Amino acid sequence: MDVIVRENYNEMSKYAAKLIAELVKSKPNCVLGLATGSTPIGTYKELIGMHKEGLDFSSVKTFNLDEYLGVGIDLKKPYNQDQSYARFMYEELFKHVNIKKENTHVPDGLAIEPEKHCQWYEEEIKRAGGIDLQLLGIGGDGHWAFNEPGSSLSSRTRVEALNKQTLDDNYESFYKKAGIKKEEMPHFAITMGIGTILESRHALMIANGKKKAEVVAKALEGAITSQITSSAIQLHPGKTTVVLDEEAAAKLKNIEHYKHVEGLKEEYKL
Ligand code: PGA
Repeated sequence: MDVIVRENYNEMSKYAAKLIAELVKSKPNCVLGLATGSTPIGTYKELIGMHKEGLDFSSVKTFNLDEYLGVGIDLKKPYNQDQSYARFMYEELFKHVNIKKENTHVPDGLAIEPEKHCQWYEEEIKRAGGIDLQLLGIGGDGHWAFNEPGSSLSSRTRVEALNKQTLDDNYESFYKKAGIKKEEMPHFAITMGIGTILESRHALMIANGKKKAEVVAKALEGAITSQITSSAIQLHPGKTTVVLDEEAAAKLKNIEHYKHVEGLKEEYKL
């Protein structure tokens, strides 16, 4: 696992975007796993900037990690009333780059038979050849996607109930601003499973800010446990990169080791 620490949010975002762009350039028809939340917005802004300079998304396929259940894209509604992750992706990335709509996938929050839709989503990822690079945030409760504490570390795409901390965090970040009452927030979501995420060839986790420092340290250096589902990063068999700002890295014990490894890899161009 490579742990990269950058001075601030902008530098973290630039580093993550550079890794994604390198993949898009070397494999123009790559499959990206994408994430929502406040953390990846800067990474998407960087990618949009790179697209203006020629980065080509025309053959890229994407699969998003999750979507609230009971919320789907409704372009007739103003953005601040539609809190769907499909809408988020459209606003924060898709509409700014030359990605084909049919190549983008977000679980359908309005699926009539959600469990069947989850199976279809898994099959669709397989048909696309699997995920080359999965971008991941980390929730305040340590979740990856909406794999809340107690989710099996081999779980697949399914419907999951959101826990209280996630509801509180997402209310503060998104719903409050939109004037939506807390009780009106969706309480369930469709989420890729931890098992699904672990099959990605490259897992790229990003985190910033003081609020994440403790949970990041637990996930990276603590016990592997279904109580902190992102601790499954320690089991990821493929390439694994964690990019943090200094605040989010503040509670890591092995920080000197990570810096040493980064220095060596730069020196030997690995
Ligand atoms: P955030 O959410 O980026 O809004 O902090 C991260 C997550 O829940 O994965």
